Order: sequence, then C-alpha cells, then structure tokens
Amino acid sequence: MATVKTLLWLGLSLSAFGITTADVNSVPRAQDVHWVSLDFTTHLRWSVTSSDYTYTVRFSREDADWEESPNCIQISASECDLTQSLKASDRAYFADVQTEIMDMDYELPHTQSSRFNPYRESNISAVSFTVAPLDDRRVIVNITDPLTSIYDRGKQLSIRDIFKKDLNYKIRYYKSGSTGKRDEISNSSMKVIPGLDKGESYCFMVATFIRSRPKATQQGSWSMQQCTESSQDNLQGVTPSIFQLLQFWQPEDSFLDLSVGAWVGVGFIMLTVLIVIVTVTVLCCRQRNKTLQTSQSSAPV
Ligand SMILES: *[C@@H]1O[C@H](CO)[C@@H](O)[C@H](O)[C@H]1NC(C)=O
Ligand SMILES: *[C@@H]1O[C@H](CO)[C@@H](O)[C@H](O)[C@H]1NC(C)=O
Ligand SMILES: *[C@@H]1O[C@H](CO)[C@@H](O)[C@H](O)[C@H]1NC(C)=O
Repeated sequence: MATVKTLLWLGLSLSAFGITTADVNSVPRAQDVHWVSLDFTTHLRWSVTSSDYTYTVRFSREDADWEESPNCIQISASECDLTQSLKASDRAYFADVQTEIMDMDYELPHTQSSRFNPYRESNISAVSFTVAPLDDRRVIVNITDPLTSIYDRGKQLSIRDIFKKDLNYKIRYYKSGSTGKRDEISNSSMKVIPGLDKGESYCFMVATFIRSRPKATQQGSWSMQQCTESSQDNLQGVTPSIFQLLQFWQPEDSFLDLSVGAWVGVGFIMLTVLIVIVTVTVLCCRQRNKTLQTSQSSAPV
C-alpha cells in the first residue's frame, strides 16, 4: 500500500506542482548495469523498475570525453548495442545509463557501468575445426579463425585480425577410451600433432587461448570434440547399416500395420542376427577345436 500511496503522491505532485528537486531522487536509476560480449558483439544491459522512463547511454574510452551512443538515445529498451562504438584495440571503456525525464534542468539520475575492455574481456565462442590424418602417426588440425562483429573499412575482422600475435589455440586431445589428456598450444590456425599411436582413434577439442589476457578470460569456449577413426574398428562398416534398417521401425505402429519397408527391415535384422550367431558359433567351435588339439598335442605322453 505504501508504494501505491507514494506513486499517487508522485503523480499528483508531478501534475499539480511540477517536479521539485527532491523528486529526482525517486526517479528510478538503471540497475545491475553490466556488459555482455561475445566475439566482440558487445551489449550493455540493465534492469529497470518502471516502464515509464526512457534511457540514454553514453560511453567513454578511458581518459576521453563522454559520447552519446547514437542508437541508444531515449530508448525504452533495457539494452544497448555498443559493438560499433567500441574499438577492438586494447582499451577500456565505461558506459553510463541515464534515466530521462522531459524538461528537466538538473542532473538526471544515472548509473555507471564497470570498466570494460573488449580486447581483454569479450568472450570468445567455440571455434570450428577439422582434423585429418597426415600419416600413421600424425594428424593435421585445421582451425577456422572466427569472425567478429567488428568492421574495418568494410572488411569484417576475424579474431586473428584483432589479436594478431596474441592469438593462440589450445588443442586438447586424448586416445579414445583413455583418460590421459594432452594440451598443445598453437600460434597458427594449422597445427600438426605428431607422436600418435598407429591405428588408434584420437579425439580433439580446440579453444582460443589469448596469453596476454587475464587468466579468467584467457581461454575461449571449447569446441565440440572430433575423433579420428581407428583402423582396427572392423564393426564400423556393419553397425551403421543396422541402424539405418532400424529407421523403418515405427514403434507406434501396431504389429500388423507395419509397412513393407518395416517388414523388409525386420527381415534384414533377423538375417543379420542369424549370420552373426552362425559366424560366432563357427569361430568359437574352430577356436575350441584348436585349443583342444593344442592341449592334446602338448599333453605329456
Ligand atoms: C563471459 O562468459 C561468462 C561465463 O558464461 C559470463 O559469466 C560473463 O559474464 C561473460 N562476459 C561477458 C563480458 O559477456
Ligand atoms: C583449412 O580449412 C579452410 C577452411 O575450412 C580451408 O579453406 C583450407 O583449405 C583448409 N586447409 C587444409 C590444409 O586442410
Ligand atoms: C610460432 O611458434 C613457432 C614455434 O613454436 C615459432 O617458431 C614461431 O616464431 C611462432 N610464430 C609467431 C608468429 O609467434
């Protein structure tokens, strides 16, 4: 009730008596002003307690004058895209969110952001890469430098254009089924990984690694892992075809409603299972015979 009364009183005083300096204190400030930045797309966000006001965002590079952000003058949103206003060079910025009231002469309530340097603090998303075998014991990891939202004379800059020599990639890899992981740092987008075990499958992940940054933001997001094929995996040819056949099976169909395709699928699965059973049995018997023969021949006479 108290707040309703306050609002009524505020409304009355606004309309009947005009705004007094004291009322400025009850004009809500932007709260929780914070930066969100991914691959140099940088937004300032804040929260508001009332939708009755608009906001103007100003920004300044450290030791420079404040400028208004052209797209964020008297906006009613609680977010401002500052991507094009912030240079990607290693400089820090402040922003300031001012609550707007019409026809006011005195200083408006405003909230200043924390210091923000996109070069050091913009998060870097997962990169895409390929991994291809070079020979028995080496693979080549080929990383695509991600693009940012920064343009320079019409050219969209990649993170390598911005970070230059500071840009490294961390390549993490492990042998399939083993827990030991190895990290390699690469200063180029292509890296040969030597010393792998012949015929084994290895899995790789990549993240950007910017040495000059503070620890907390040094490493970008990890990419999805990619694995090389093991040359010993004989089942690989068979397994996918069974899964492809299984796609004919529609679990919601009643048994008799199965399509021709599904029947063919079922037939194939049964046939495959039969072949596997026969093969396994034959192999087992042959193995046992061999073992028997061996034990017979090596038995003392
Ligand atoms: C970067 O990502 C972290 C983790 O998701 C998040 O806490 C942080 O606010 C992000 N920083 C920026 C500037 O977006
Ligand atoms: C690396 O990837 C890029 C982009 O995907 C491609 O243009 C380039 O030819 C690849 N290089 C090698 C050696 O695979
Ligand atoms: C990248 O690393 C290699 C060896 O690790 C080094 O010889 C080369 O000078 C480095 N290049 C740059 C641009 O730092």
